[in-house]
Amino acid sequence: VSEMRKEILGPRGQELLRLKEQYAAPSFFHVTPVVMDRAEYPATLIDVDGNRYVDFAAGIGVMNIGNQHPEVLEAAKEQLEKATHFGFHVVLYEPYLRLAEALDQIYPGDEPTKSIFVNSGAEAVENAIKVARAATGREYIIAFSGSFHGRTAIALQATGKTKPSRLPFMRSAAPNILHAPYPYRYREPVPFADDDAAGEYYLGQVRHLLDTVIAPELVAGILIEPIQGEGGFIVPPTNFVQGLRQLCDQFGILLISDEVQTGMGRTGRWFGIEHHGVVPDLIAMSKALGAGWPLGAVTGKARIMDAVPGYAVGSTFGGHPVACAASLKMLAVMRRDGLPDRANSIGETISARFRSIQASCPQVGDVRGRGAMQAIELVKDRTSKEPYPEAVNDIMDECYRNGLIMIKAGLYGNVIRTLVPLTIGEADLKKGLDILEASIKKVLG
Ligand SMILES: Cc1ncc(COP(=O)(O)O)c(C=O)c1O
Repeated sequence: VSEMRKEILGPRGQELLRLKEQYAAPSFFHVTPVVMDRAEYPATLIDVDGNRYVDFAAGIGVMNIGNQHPEVLEAAKEQLEKATHFGFHVVLYEPYLRLAEALDQIYPGDEPTKSIFVNSGAEAVENAIKVARAATGREYIIAFSGSFHGRTAIALQATGKTKPSRLPFMRSAAPNILHAPYPYRYREPVPFADDDAAGEYYLGQVRHLLDTVIAPELVAGILIEPIQGEGGFIVPPTNFVQGLRQLCDQFGILLISDEVQTGMGRTGRWFGIEHHGVVPDLIAMSKALGAGWPLGAVTGKARIMDAVPGYAVGSTFGGHPVACAASLKMLAVMRRDGLPDRANSIGETISARFRSIQASCPQVGDVRGRGAMQAIELVKDRTSKEPYPEAVNDIMDECYRNGLIMIKAGLYGNVIRTLVPLTIGEADLKKGLDILEASIKKVLG
């Protein structure tokens, strides 16, 4: 943290920052050095020195419902007064079962589904891969360049007991994950004529991988973010995602949608993949699913979920009753208040502003997104498209100094992304965009 950044913090923030430097491992990256104290519904954060901020990060796309939503808090409190923890391996409880039922209702398509609850996005992805491997008896997974699926991988391999949790997956102890290129239209070396042409090309790359590197008969799943999140809010062509579905059907491969960032109404639908008219076999979810409590889920077609042997997956805290109770209320409020649709109008406001900024700033190379998942990509110039991450860092700093919490994304760290609460009011949305626009203009000149 630079001296300049320290200066803007108040005395309490300074004191706590010293604790951070002494005791918190530096490997846990943070965008701002602000020490936050509390939040006010829906989109205000207040630091330990009383400074107020508009929240455009929502705890990395977690607080879609808004921080401190009164009805969600009430549902969580009600559950907390009944019991703190049970453990679904020990006894059953209603919030877990009701949430599985509720996810079945919003899952795309008509096939019945079943769910497993865990605690985070990485755990959801790991378990989706485990389910795909166990259900197909195959071990390879095709993922995509630029994707982000989480930070765990080897806990299971480190477990020193073969039964019951390791046996179904032991053949796949090696990672066996291959990557195909993801359609990143802004950075095509030779631009394709349109989305359809690009989609066909990238689909051809997946077919090529299956023809040359790994036979489709050995592939358990294709794992895709329907819009890349950490990768920089990249929206793939619809014919690409539809073509993946067809490839999966042709070869008995399972299509796994990682909706950790795109789920829960963020893109204008419950799940990002719905924009492509595609029904996946499995969905990994987390972030906004828990309405602020740690919760992840794998929901998938019942016949696939049923194929995994009993006791093979699980977690001590998975499907924590308070998280499930909050999640259920969040889903009910979202449905009642039409929040997935509100994501579309938020997205229109943000993208209109981004396009007007682009018109006057040559370093704004691209504006893109879906629903309330909107981003701008900064480049040193529009011809070379050389990424400009330094400017993004300066803009993030300028934003929090002026009362806006923002985060970045992108393979090259040169993308500014918005993950505003879907309950944000027009005044806060405008205020945040004004601070962001002023910060961009100040940094880019
Ligand atoms: C698409 C996607 N998958 C998985 C993860 C990992 O989630 P977690 O950080 O909860 O493990 C993330 C986190 O940003 C994500 O964006």
